[in-house]
Amino acid sequence: MFAVAGVTGNTGSVVARELLAAGQAVRVIVRDAAKGEAWKARGADVAVAQLDDAVALARALDGVKGAYLLSPPSVTSSDPLTESRSQVDAMARAVAASAVPHVVFLSSIAAHHPDRTGPILTVHYAEQKLSAAARDVTFVRPSYFLENWRSAFAAVKGDGVLPSFLQPGRAFPMVATEDIGRVAAERLLAGPAGRQVVELTGPEDYTPEAIARALGNALLGREAHVVPLPVEQAEPILTSLGVSPAMAALYREMYTSFHTGHVDFERRGGAVVRGKVGAEAAFAAMAA
Ligand SMILES: NC(=O)c1ccc[n+]([C@@H]2O[C@H](COP(=O)([O-])OP(=O)(O)OC[C@H]3O[C@@H](n4cnc5c(N)ncnc54)[C@H](OP(=O)(O)O)[C@@H]3O)[C@@H](O)[C@H]2O)c1
Repeated sequence: MFAVAGVTGNTGSVVARELLAAGQAVRVIVRDAAKGEAWKARGADVAVAQLDDAVALARALDGVKGAYLLSPPSVTSSDPLTESRSQVDAMARAVAASAVPHVVFLSSIAAHHPDRTGPILTVHYAEQKLSAAARDVTFVRPSYFLENWRSAFAAVKGDGVLPSFLQPGRAFPMVATEDIGRVAAERLLAGPAGRQVVELTGPEDYTPEAIARALGNALLGREAHVVPLPVEQAEPILTSLGVSPAMAALYREMYTSFHTGHVDFERRGGAVVRGKVGAEAAFAAMAA
């Protein structure tokens, strides 16, 4: 049996679906029993546990041969790094207590850096804690999610524009969460192999203009136009959308480091793996 967290989200849902499709027994970890009902109907076991509850999480991991874990975003927190680190600490305690043989953890591009990466600092911390706590652990480090552009759907549909903190004219690595979930499930099925890092991106890199073309075509039947947003405006813009000031400051730091090139793959463990799902296919699925 495999345990999978985050099954109502982008990547965990794909991991659980892929494992079930491979004929494996799956225990989904949800924080609200009602959210497990759909998975129960598909044959999964359901464990109710908050990721920051080490005791409940250790119970959910008991007896499984592998687990998919992640550090969900805390966009409204007044102290996101402290909150996320204490959740990671609880996950590490649960992993150690349950002695789960293999953890596949959702990390991020640039998780090797100890500074100037904004919210990515949480998964840098998680890699260290889980390397110490887990028997065998695989860190999947994806690039920028294509699903992040979902937040621009209304602007594309309404005004034909794509607001973007990423620099126009420059191609950035991006990946569909379908590819992330598939690769994470493959790693769970492959079993423990020491400490591994898988850096993962989509079949090609995309400029904001290419994203505007693909997203416009998917949503409007014509291309949208990029409206560049200055990184200096990240905090007022993001807080106006409900993001906490502390989290908005972290996002500003991350976008600044995209621009300087500090947010990039480490490329230490070999080539970056390329997925199969491009922007057009990802946006068509998101628009459906
Ligand atoms: N966005 C990017 O470009 C990017 C790039 C690299 C890495 N990442 C990593 O990817 C993560 C997001 O992954 P995702 O998109 O698959 O997730 P997601 O769609 O944001 O969903 C989060 C999942 O975690 C669950 N969850 C949240 N808090 C929980 C808690 N306290 N206890 C138990 N479950 C909880 C949610 O369940 P509910 O339904 O109960 O809320 C949901 O299933 C980020 O946090 C970051 O670490 C993101």
